[in-house]
Amino acid sequence: MMSDVFYYNTHLHITTWVIGIILFLVVLNLLKKSNEKAAKITHMVLRLFYLFIIITGALLWFNNYSQAGGSLFTESVVKSLAGVWVIGAMEMVLGATKRGKSAFAGWLQLIIALILVLALGFGKLQLGILP
Ligand code: HEM
Repeated sequence: MMSDVFYYNTHLHITTWVIGIILFLVVLNLLKKSNEKAAKITHMVLRLFYLFIIITGALLWFNNYSQAGGSLFTESVVKSLAGVWVIGAMEMVLGATKRGKSAFAGWLQLIIALILVLALGFGKLQLGILP
């Protein structure tokens, strides 16, 4: 049934970004401990999860919002772009930490993008956890 596809799709998307955030924190810790080899491998796995996050998010968008009208369409596009922004900001934080530079700009962007994504994803857009 089509609705089953949407149901599992939202869960799959949430699963991928929750794992992504956990992996991000693990890589950050490994970098701080100067465990370079483990950080490199975990970072590669994290980048694979970026791909899963984008694919599941894009599927949600094409299946549910590509034909939507008005504010729903706009909000879903902003939500999706903010999702890509979260990934970019995570890479900025990891890159700066790895080079021993200040990661402030990355953290600031990560927080703003995360607030946008959570507010639009959970608060505004309507698929919900149990659609
Ligand atoms: C780390 C990055 C991301 C995070 C933290 C995130 C977070 C979320 C959250 C919290 C929801 C709401 C789930 C629900 O209502 O059950 C959601 C749904 C969604 N996400 Fe993402 N997302 C990310 C990346 C992306 C990307 C890259 C795209 C697009 C390419 C995307 C597109 C969507 C769409 C279309 C929905 C459905 C909106 C709805 O009706 O709830 N997301 N995401």
